[in-house]
Amino acid sequence: MLVLGTVACSDSVGPERPIDGQQLYENYCARCHGPDGRPAADQPQARDLSNRRIIDTLSDESISMTIRMGRPPGMPAFRDEFTEASLMVLVAYVRGLSGSQGSRSKSTGGTPPP
Ligand code: HEC
Repeated sequence: MLVLGTVACSDSVGPERPIDGQQLYENYCARCHGPDGRPAADQPQARDLSNRRIIDTLSDESISMTIRMGRPPGMPAFRDEFTEASLMVLVAYVRGLSGSQGSRSKSTGGTPPP
């Protein structure tokens, strides 16, 4: 399967514009995980997504699985909330919060994390 960060046309639902990972994150995740990945004050049990040591241990698959299935009882399941393409963008955004390169095998090219 080929999914690129900027695919918009393979997305049958939704308007034709690039998927914005930050927008998705702020809409769905920031209320618990905080805008920068650090858990919100009233959600101390949420995982610190800005901690690279945590995120580095998670594969893209496990992050998207967590988003889909949730983490009862603390984190709701988003199930069909996101298209496959949106999930990929969101996972990449979550990784970016910690600067994690994750389990991606790409070792050449690509821009280094900020
Ligand atoms: C209602 C609060 C809440 C929301 C909304 C929420 N989470 Fe979580 N999340 C949590 C809690 C609590 C945990 C820790 C669960 C645990 O310890 O098992 C968690 C854990 C995680 C983990 C770590 C999973 C692991 O394997 O360790 C990731 C990644 C994550 N959330 C991503 C997201 C993303 C991305 C979104 C937005 C789509 C999101 N969360 C929305 C509460 C939330």
